[in-house]
Amino acid sequence: MKFLIANWKMNLVDSDNWLLAFNENFDNSSINNSLEIVICPSFTQLAEVAQKSFFKNKIKIGAQNVSENPPGPYTGEISTEHLSQFGINYCIVGHSERRALGESNSDVKNKVKKLLSKKITPIVCFGESLEIQEKRETEKFLLSQLDYLLKDKDLDINKCIFAYEPLWAIGKGVAADLQTINTSISYVKKVFDKNNSSLTVLYGGSVNKDNSPEILSADHISGFLVGNSSLDGKEFANIAKNF
Ligand code: 13P
Repeated sequence: MKFLIANWKMNLVDSDNWLLAFNENFDNSSINNSLEIVICPSFTQLAEVAQKSFFKNKIKIGAQNVSENPPGPYTGEISTEHLSQFGINYCIVGHSERRALGESNSDVKNKVKKLLSKKITPIVCFGESLEIQEKRETEKFLLSQLDYLLKDKDLDINKCIFAYEPLWAIGKGVAADLQTINTSISYVKKVFDKNNSSLTVLYGGSVNKDNSPEILSADHISGFLVGNSSLDGKEFANIAKNF
């Protein structure tokens, strides 16, 4: 199964126009059992988008964040129970933009557990900064981000989707080179395979319609987590055509 996931981040997207443009440029019948398309809008748009019938039938909906706590006195937070009410299927966790706001590896693990308990698939982001890459410490760093999940025997990592998003390629207009993507994903797969797991790993960072065919050819890649190029229904449809 391949995945194409849109992360709309904190952007205002007109979902009617988006859908129109997507439909005009993508043959819906190509959405079959081998490709899952997921849209992660902002919290204020989740209900609206989840209720649109096309999204219900053809495109799955994800959240961009969730609280690790149960419903209760947590001002401004959204629980997994809230997400379940709207039939949300996926949720991004550990995105670098949230880690920059203080989300720790331990928070990521707690969120993953909470999501799995509600049968919502976590999309776990990981990736190194430019500084770490330049110091040639990428592997050590990636391991430190994922080890938390690996070590927890109660957590089934095969029920998660992982997304390799090197920070230096996010929002830059130029994706990571194929060799870096191959090396990082192969490394993570090798480490996890010791535990007999077969992980789903996506790539994210400046994916667009032009570079997506080449990146898709990378070893072990199961799809994309797309930011900027997912904001326009036509551009996103053009990426979908490359699967
Ligand atoms: P861009 O596609 O805008 O680089 O964003 C990638 C990303 O952060 C997806 O989560």
